[in-house]
Amino acid sequence: MDFTKLFRPGILATKPYSPGKPIAEVKRELNLDRVIKLASNENPEGPLPAVVEAIGKAALDINRYPDASCHDLTRKLSALLGVDPGQVIFGNGSNEVIDILIRALVSPGENVVFSEHSFIVYALTTRVHFECGRAVPLAPGDRHDLQAMADAVDERTKLVIVCNPNNPTGTYNTAAEFGAFLELIPENVIVAVDEAYYEYVTAEDYPQTLGMLAEHPNLVLLRTFSKIHSLAGLRVGYGVGHDGLISQLHRTREPFNVNSLSQAAAIACLDNWHEVAGRARRNREQREAMAKELAAIGLEVVPSQTNFLLVRAPGKAATWARLLLEKGIIVRPMDAFGLGDGAMRISIGLPAENELCIAALKEIVAR
Ligand SMILES: Cc1ncc(COP(=O)(O)O)c(C=O)c1O
Repeated sequence: MDFTKLFRPGILATKPYSPGKPIAEVKRELNLDRVIKLASNENPEGPLPAVVEAIGKAALDINRYPDASCHDLTRKLSALLGVDPGQVIFGNGSNEVIDILIRALVSPGENVVFSEHSFIVYALTTRVHFECGRAVPLAPGDRHDLQAMADAVDERTKLVIVCNPNNPTGTYNTAAEFGAFLELIPENVIVAVDEAYYEYVTAEDYPQTLGMLAEHPNLVLLRTFSKIHSLAGLRVGYGVGHDGLISQLHRTREPFNVNSLSQAAAIACLDNWHEVAGRARRNREQREAMAKELAAIGLEVVPSQTNFLLVRAPGKAATWARLLLEKGIIVRPMDAFGLGDGAMRISIGLPAENELCIAALKEIVAR
């Protein structure tokens, strides 16, 4: 039987998301003892001991369904952010909140605007959902062209997604730029600002979007516990917006979309919020050191506000990625993504991991 005939055209046109190779797979395939993964913008620092302890305690209750409303987690986060609990929705990663927004808002014939070179999930999810994506090229400097994005909005646009700082470029748009952009967007178009890397940002003119919510009820912030909080494996993310918007989104989500171990772990992260500053500082130090070293090797490095660097090397990124893989270092080639043949994304690792990555690159260049 030909199953392809059963599915919507958008499904057939969609390539499954291709994640960074898992460490165990590379070890197995290349018979390597030591493999360093710098491919998925994870936090190389493991979870906090208090988080592991909270998961252990919560594990005793996994015969029960999780709290469907994420009651305690919602209360804790909303108090920390200074918003009403009704303004928060949690998801199985912020990825799920993106998915909920698109599914809840968009009918056939309507569209979602985002940047062409941004988090790949926007393109994948909109393709599956009525092929509703409308991708806008970046401006010079690998930054969002917010004016072009605003120009792409028409009477059938339901949602605009701005990834700030942007994955995979690491670049950001300033508070002044984002504020001016919001003024251009009609209030019946939702603006989702994806701030997955929010805690890593060090630029002083980065927008503090939480403070913009009161004036812009069509704005929704997306953040995650997957990055600085080291919970990528547990999948917890959230959206913050007007309670009228958030209450509609709750209708669309699965009843038990955040499991009980994840809720317990995320609460422990919030109880240890003071750890965030040190994590961000260590990332910044390594990011700056890596950028310098990469530039010294002769690679072009895009200035980053995140926990990764977009690098442009001569030749093909796939070749660089393969040569690095042979040395046990996994990076993400971006050549198929239209950012240039030699474009690759390298996540910031622990100091020793970064040193090994630089040493491997130097060896490749010296050949
Ligand atoms: C910009 C951006 N948004 C969202 C996500 C997904 O985060 P989560 O793990 O919370 O689904 C990522 C993950 O890489 C990301 O880069």
